[in-house]
Amino acid sequence: MKKKPSESKRSEQKKNNATEEYSGWWGDGPVFVFLYDKRKKEALTSGDAEEILQFVKDSEQVLNEPEALRIIRIENEYSHPVLFVDTGKEAGLDSIDHLRMAGYRLAKWAENNSVKTILVPPLIDDSAKKRHAILQGLCHASYSFDKYKSKKNKKADIEYLFTDDMEISGEYLQKLFSGIDFAKNLINEPGGALTPAMLANIAQSIGTKHNLPVKIRKSKELEKDEYNGILNVGRGSKNEPAMVTLSYRPRSKVSPYQIAFVGKGITFDTGGICIKSADKMWEMKSDMSGAATVLAAIQVIAELKLPIAVDAILCLAENRPGENAVLPGDIFKAKNGKTVMVENTDAEGRLVLIDGFAEAVSLGATHIIDIATLTGAMQRALGSSIGGFFSNSEGLAQIITATGAENGEKWWRMPLDDEYAESLKDKVADLRNIADGGPGAIIAALFLKEFIPENVQWAHLDIAGVAFTAKPYKYTEHGATAFGLKTLVETARAYSKEEVRD
Ligand code: BES
Ligand code: MN
Ligand code: ZN
Repeated sequence: MKKKPSESKRSEQKKNNATEEYSGWWGDGPVFVFLYDKRKKEALTSGDAEEILQFVKDSEQVLNEPEALRIIRIENEYSHPVLFVDTGKEAGLDSIDHLRMAGYRLAKWAENNSVKTILVPPLIDDSAKKRHAILQGLCHASYSFDKYKSKKNKKADIEYLFTDDMEISGEYLQKLFSGIDFAKNLINEPGGALTPAMLANIAQSIGTKHNLPVKIRKSKELEKDEYNGILNVGRGSKNEPAMVTLSYRPRSKVSPYQIAFVGKGITFDTGGICIKSADKMWEMKSDMSGAATVLAAIQVIAELKLPIAVDAILCLAENRPGENAVLPGDIFKAKNGKTVMVENTDAEGRLVLIDGFAEAVSLGATHIIDIATLTGAMQRALGSSIGGFFSNSEGLAQIITATGAENGEKWWRMPLDDEYAESLKDKVADLRNIADGGPGAIIAALFLKEFIPENVQWAHLDIAGVAFTAKPYKYTEHGATAFGLKTLVETARAYSKEEVRD
């Protein structure tokens, strides 16, 4: 390889490292990273990496290798081992998410190979966004849920050396990932170990820590305030239901908007009297993903001090058959006066969410975003990579799609077509909670829409397919993904800026 005169400070540092001895193949010394897109035959890292690219182009040796990660020792002037990371390995990702995945694989590789130090050169076409994506990948790689393992995973302590001209907000990442890891821990917790009351207590401690007022309603208060949806869903369990409201109000430069996040928090969904089959029922411990996500989102927003008022409303209940459980055919009156016949006790998410909407409206929300593991139909429609959402607002829909795309959360907007709304009319009550067949995810959204005032902009995020994964998916080995959290935080940020109008 041709030598190039060194110009940067980092080159000095590299020289010093060059004097270190490598034991074994690549030894204990730093590993130099080279990011490239194998399909496009394009280098993403610049500077000294140009030499490497030249080498690669000359030899064709590396680019023809099938592995996405490959380490070779290049006989350059410093004898750095170079790790080639293919950023184009995964299909279906946009360019930013490719970088996130590259960061993730890089960190996993370093962990598995006990590499202590990694040198990441600057990117060609360097931008904060791209760097952040790589760093997010690194952060995602460090999560594991080993609370219940007798042998804990050893936390890898890898040092990443970035060139000093890179402006990275480590603070933002730290705040974001403390939220992501927190939400994942809650979602991964077994249903028996996290009751509504326990989740309410955790929410209280988050509120105390971040100076957010918290209002907790248990059965008694729910009854007094006529939050009958949550009450009815929770009736079958001795673990009483709850609604938790956390409020964040910024100190300065307040946006004219007020956002309420409403999260479905079924700490376990057996289906109730309309009980589910045993197959994969255990995964219903994740039926509180929405509540965990809104709780983590308000925490991150408070830490970032976004200049917009936000409320997080957790609708908590355990859905079980029991002596006092709600029966198919039972009717209750919702907070907005509409009566609902519970035709299927397994369609419980929509019943708790509508109480959250009433709470959001009473707090003065201009925008309501609910997030819920709501329907198996959405899981079947869009699978485990894409979340489906509905909205009554073009502006809000656009922001959700755009912020999701930037943050590795793909969203697809679904239709809220009133033609199907007819099928939710009941003969005895005003509404019933299911229809006779039909498009399940749309029907659920149309049910929710009945409880949203016309002047409120609303989006309903159905994360049934994406919240929890039994097998490795992107930067989650298994379990909770915290899908939607970045979208919520970045949507709030978008509305905190003046220029958003709708
Ligand atoms: N929590 C489930 C939805 C779900 C299914 C989430 C699979 C994650 C993975 C929800 O409460 C439910 O049971 N929905 C029913 C509705 C039906 C009875 C109309 C469903 O989708 O089958
Ligand atoms: Mn259910
Ligand atoms: Zn459910």
